[in-house]
Amino acid sequence: MRKKMVAGNWKMNQRFDEAEELVSEIADIIDAQPLDEDVELVICPPYLFLEMATDIASESEFHIGAQNVSEYDKGAFTGEVSALMLNSMDVEYCIIGHSERRKYFDEKDEVLAAKVNLALANEIEPIFCCGEVLSEREANIHFDIVKAQIEKGLFHLSPEQFYNVVIAYEPVWAIGTGVVASPAQAQEMHAFIRSLIKEKYGAELADDTTILYGGSCNASNAAELFSQPDVDGGLIGGASLKAKDFIQITRSF
Ligand code: PGA
Repeated sequence: MRKKMVAGNWKMNQRFDEAEELVSEIADIIDAQPLDEDVELVICPPYLFLEMATDIASESEFHIGAQNVSEYDKGAFTGEVSALMLNSMDVEYCIIGHSERRKYFDEKDEVLAAKVNLALANEIEPIFCCGEVLSEREANIHFDIVKAQIEKGLFHLSPEQFYNVVIAYEPVWAIGTGVVASPAQAQEMHAFIRSLIKEKYGAELADDTTILYGGSCNASNAAELFSQPDVDGGLIGGASLKAKDFIQITRSF
């Protein structure tokens, strides 16, 4: 379902006490001054902090996502966390296919497709990430790269399943670099992604899909990015670790 959304990807940051303080501060700010009704705020802390975060979220107006999920459904997979476990903790979203998982943990398209399936089967909405590295953009193959990631990770889904997927376009060269995509670059790729969905699933579903931008999005550039017709919000890394900046981004539509 298409919605305005800002999701915070905390990555591997914060001690427990710091995390609790940050979630509480976010809750306090939006309790005092509620978000626009049509804007959804999601926080994706590390697994360990999910229980604390869902507890606080249950009394407030924001939602909780995980940063990863196992490709297996259950059993002897030491150290893994299943979609069923996330569901049982009231987790509503899960980031899947982040470029750091693709790069450092060698997660391939088939693994990501399996994660998407398990998330959806357990009523968790995937926030599916795609995006090219700098050399791919320079070689002018960025559209092909993103197309292949989306086709392999998502296009096996039925329309009913696809309806519950959020896509995040995150050019890898923009992640954590301070080099943000221009609003025109973001819009161009978002429109392209929407056209792929239209070709596969039809105009209605394409129009209903939430497509976020991620990569050095912050409180000073969010408004310009979010004003683009096909940019429905952001997946925010660094700037999601400061409550005021993060909330400012959610107020940038
Ligand atoms: P950044 O990260 O906002 O720190 O660039 C975005 C992300 O990796 O999701």
